[in-house]
Amino acid sequence: MAPEVASQAVALCDTAAAAERQLGRWLDELGARRVFLVSGGDSFRRCGAEALVAAALGTRALCRFPCAGSDPAASVLAEGVGRFKAIGPDCVLAVGGGSVMDLAKLIALFASADIDPLRWAGEPLDGIEAGLPPGIMIPTTAGSGSEATSFAVLYRAKRKYSVEHPALRPGRVLLYPGLTASLSGYQRACSGFDALAQAIESATARGATADSRAFSRQALALCRAHLERMVADPEWRDREAMLRAAYHAGQAINQTRTTAAHALSYPLTAHYGVPHGHAVALFLPAVVRFNAMHGVRAAEGFDAASVRRLADRIGLTRAWLAEGGHDRRAVAERVVAGVNAERLRNNPCPLAPDDLMDVALRALIDEETGAGKC
Ligand SMILES: [Fe+2]
Repeated sequence: MAPEVASQAVALCDTAAAAERQLGRWLDELGARRVFLVSGGDSFRRCGAEALVAAALGTRALCRFPCAGSDPAASVLAEGVGRFKAIGPDCVLAVGGGSVMDLAKLIALFASADIDPLRWAGEPLDGIEAGLPPGIMIPTTAGSGSEATSFAVLYRAKRKYSVEHPALRPGRVLLYPGLTASLSGYQRACSGFDALAQAIESATARGATADSRAFSRQALALCRAHLERMVADPEWRDREAMLRAAYHAGQAINQTRTTAAHALSYPLTAHYGVPHGHAVALFLPAVVRFNAMHGVRAAEGFDAASVRRLADRIGLTRAWLAEGGHDRRAVAERVVAGVNAERLRNNPCPLAPDDLMDVALRALIDEETGAGKC
């Protein structure tokens, strides 16, 4: 895969040895001596990244900051900022899923800009001068696209913030399909659907451009051919294709941001712990349907019904609603109350409060089984 722009180098490696050599080369190029590594918890070892990174690092000093679980709290970020400042690294390496990569970006930014994350209340940071150490990102899931973007998600007090800064876009991205081998089918479904949703939303976002649409098209073609296989019984080419799909979807939303489906998903994740990709899958069909009713063409033929069927086929159903004994109207009201206004404004057609409630209710009801009905 050729570098997208001069400021970001991307390497797609087909063996662990090639990935190890590429990482070592980049560390040499950067003259890295003290590396700050943000990684997953036990998954870092299970996916094979621990051995790969250790071999590439050689004798360089390493500070590892593990991040277990998804969507780390501001207190974890604050702890990371403290560790980062104490060490003064000359390179930031993130190896993990979207939460890990976002955390690495946020630690570097808050530490470099000398901002206490526990006091930060959502003020824009894009005007702040922050010289971050060079960053290398190695995704171990195929979904978030964080490796391609200049923003990161932070949940604080059940609220989602998107932290944006030009310096958050990592300079180097290493894609190695072998690292996705230890993911469960459900994790592959959640991450893969996130990439699909990001590409669909970007294609119809208010700020879409010819370039962003081209990235979306690339991502959607790969998702169409490989997402279901990636979930069911992935071969190497499916893992590679979905890593590329996630990267391209990341390139697309880096220009456009996401829209209403993501806007509605965040409160469901914050309040009910529904994984991000699953939460997006619940809302996307209803949002695509609403947009179509207002004249917005489906992105590359992904209309509401086909998106819904695809989500169901890969197991991202609304069963959690019935299993958890949730009342769908109460859930919808909570979602609407906590909707992310910024992403909502990016939807191609505006949603009035009644529209939003209608979309949320429709998203949470299973027309075929009636699950979730009042
Ligand atoms: Fe997403």
